[in-house]
Amino acid sequence: MDIIGTGLSGLVGSRVVSQLSPKFSFTDLSKETGFDLMDFSRIRTTITGSTAPWVFHFAAYTDVQGAEQEKDQKEQSISWKVNVSATENIVNICHDTEKRLLYISTDYVFDGTQDTYDENDTPNPLSWYGKTKYEGEKLVQTLGPPALIIRIANPYRSNPVGKMDFVHKMLERMQSGLEIQTPTDQIFSPTYIDDLAFALEKLITAKARGIYHVVALNGITPYEAARCVAEEFRFHNALVTPVLYDQYFSGKALPPKHAHLKHGKIDVLGVTLHTFGEGLNAVRRQELSSFRSVG
Ligand SMILES: NC(=O)c1ccc[n+]([C@@H]2O[C@H](COP(=O)([O-])OP(=O)(O)OC[C@H]3O[C@@H](n4cnc5c(N)ncnc54)[C@H](OP(=O)(O)O)[C@@H]3O)[C@@H](O)[C@H]2O)c1
Repeated sequence: MDIIGTGLSGLVGSRVVSQLSPKFSFTDLSKETGFDLMDFSRIRTTITGSTAPWVFHFAAYTDVQGAEQEKDQKEQSISWKVNVSATENIVNICHDTEKRLLYISTDYVFDGTQDTYDENDTPNPLSWYGKTKYEGEKLVQTLGPPALIIRIANPYRSNPVGKMDFVHKMLERMQSGLEIQTPTDQIFSPTYIDDLAFALEKLITAKARGIYHVVALNGITPYEAARCVAEEFRFHNALVTPVLYDQYFSGKALPPKHAHLKHGKIDVLGVTLHTFGEGLNAVRRQELSSFRSVG
């Protein structure tokens, strides 16, 4: 099946493409392939001219702290233009061409005041980035049945390209012997991107619609996650320092404090999500085998 998508050169998109090719054939519209999302008419012409039944909309302004700094610019901010206005253009194109639309969203749409969140819970984002992504969700939902929204959290993978995921940022600090401060009273549910790729295959095949959470099997604190990274990658002397959420995020864009996302809907489709520890183990093995094959 042909799929046309935005942002397939990014951290998440590039791994999904490599995991799902050649079962699916992808066309990427991102800056890397010469497309700017803000060129609405070129994006429209290209998607309209494609025979692909699905549009995968992965592209976003993903710099959470950068977005926060421009929140006073409201609808003139780059984050709003990319995450909301460009999404609206894509929704309109999908409406006019009767294509199905997959939109990747985030746990940052939630405020983190509940113990858990399922797909039907009402978002209330704390950060400007979260707000722009939620506005994108609402626009995508206006499409009705052809709309599929997948919320992910802190995605990680082997051999990240472009920007580093949080696991590799931690590894870089561990390798340099630098301290890593991590909250002990925050919960997140990091998405192993290979799980997302598998889930996507199931969802596309089932022509799924609505909202799905594709996250870790269980929630974990960032402190526990850092300890897991140190253990899995054998950094036994890693300097992982416990801090509190309020201390760590003082003056920064806030993530939800408790982002324990439930994932019952994707479980029913037969997708096995992994714990953070299992995902990390798979990442280490994949990196070891790619290192051996290069060597
Ligand atoms: N990373 C996270 O922690 C996280 C967490 C939850 C949800 N998500 C969501 O997951 C999706 C993928 O995120 P990611 O981490 O893979 O992002 P990423 O690595 O920052 O990649 C963003 C992608 O969007 C493209 N893009 C951005 N602005 C563009 C523009 N004006 N015109 C054309 N292309 C543009 C980039 O293209 P170029 O590289 O070619 O410029 C790149 O392919 C996003 O929707 C994000 O909101 C991410």
